[in-house]
Amino acid sequence: MAITSFRQQSQQPDEDKPKSSGKKKSGKHRQKEESNRETDVLVAAALPDETNEKEERIRPHRLADYIGQTELKNVLEIAIAAAKERKETLDHLLLYGPPGLGKTTMALILATEMKVNCKITAAPGLERPRDIIGLLVNLKPGDILFIDEIHRLSRMTEELLYPAMEDYRLDITIGKGQTARIRSIPLAKFTLVGATTKVGSLTSPLRDRFGLIQRLRFYEIDELSLIVQRTATLLQAPLTQDGASEIARRARGTPRIANRLLKRVRDYAQVKKIEIINQSVAAEALEVFNVDPMGLDWTDRLVLSVTIEQFNGGPVGLEAIAAATGEDAQTIEDVYEPYLLQIGYLQRTPRGRVATGAARKHLGYD
Ligand SMILES: Nc1ncnc2c1ncn2[C@@H]1O[C@H](COP(=O)(O)OP(=O)(O)OP(=O)(O)O)[C@@H](O)[C@H]1O
Ligand SMILES: [Mg+2]
Repeated sequence: MAITSFRQQSQQPDEDKPKSSGKKKSGKHRQKEESNRETDVLVAAALPDETNEKEERIRPHRLADYIGQTELKNVLEIAIAAAKERKETLDHLLLYGPPGLGKTTMALILATEMKVNCKITAAPGLERPRDIIGLLVNLKPGDILFIDEIHRLSRMTEELLYPAMEDYRLDITIGKGQTARIRSIPLAKFTLVGATTKVGSLTSPLRDRFGLIQRLRFYEIDELSLIVQRTATLLQAPLTQDGASEIARRARGTPRIANRLLKRVRDYAQVKKIEIINQSVAAEALEVFNVDPMGLDWTDRLVLSVTIEQFNGGPVGLEAIAAATGEDAQTIEDVYEPYLLQIGYLQRTPRGRVATGAARKHLGYD
């Protein structure tokens, strides 16, 4: 299981791209990787290719560098200041929202701000009780334990977490049947930061044990524009302000996508020997990568056009859309749908999904 201490700057579990051990990749290999990336240019979920060392360089490390999410930042600033003043650990925190909005980033920032270590893991890596036990007993006072996809914890792991979160205690059952007894092991006072894209799937005993529950929202265009400009500076990409806005407009409210689009635009400019990336260059490049002016990619448009053409605009069930588009229902629900709902192109009704007039207009239907 990959667990890392952030301060030691080693790898993270969701970032488990094999390190290239300092060797440069051959041109051919890299080309293939690039073209693979283009096809999933808009998938917001963490893909191994974007979570390498370079990616770490553009991840903000201080609260002050974390752009947008003002409400979340205000809440956390207060929590940090209060905990520091009382020399206590932070309350357990649950972050939820669509992929790529900055949940992992925020957990790492909290550790930096609190000057503690952050151990990062994801629920699928905690299947056996001994996985979570090993992690918990090694925590130092104040440490942050970050569990990604926390809605996917196994029942046993979850039950071990209840006393750990509430009383900083592990209750381990030793033996079986009549001779079974419970041994309690004291734990250091730690902070659990849970992240999930599906807060509704959390059991209520787990949810209730978080002192802070915060939603991350999609970013506004001007916030994304600042994020793109910050990344461009770090990557030394010659991007103008209107170039940044153009990328931001097409980034589906998501920093991860904004940064990824910037990289694609930078590649385009480099190959075409364009020195300054302004609005028209950015727009031209993103057309090439099939990202339309609303940030929709091929799959988004397919989901909408299938709903409109094959199902008369809906209502239609998610499974039917999945079958007709050949996409996985879960992926549509987690990755594509949230943004389409957000911009009002799709509606969720009790009888299924409905494509709206705005979607028809955008796709050029009457
Ligand atoms: N507020 C922000 N300001 C600047 N950059 C950000 C911000 N939020 C996220 N980013 C950038 O977006 C990338 C993705 O963020 P992060 O990995 O934290 O998303 P996530 O919510 O954990 O996604 P997932 O649900 O897929 O795990 C980061 O590498 C970071 O560079
Ligand atoms: Mg994450």
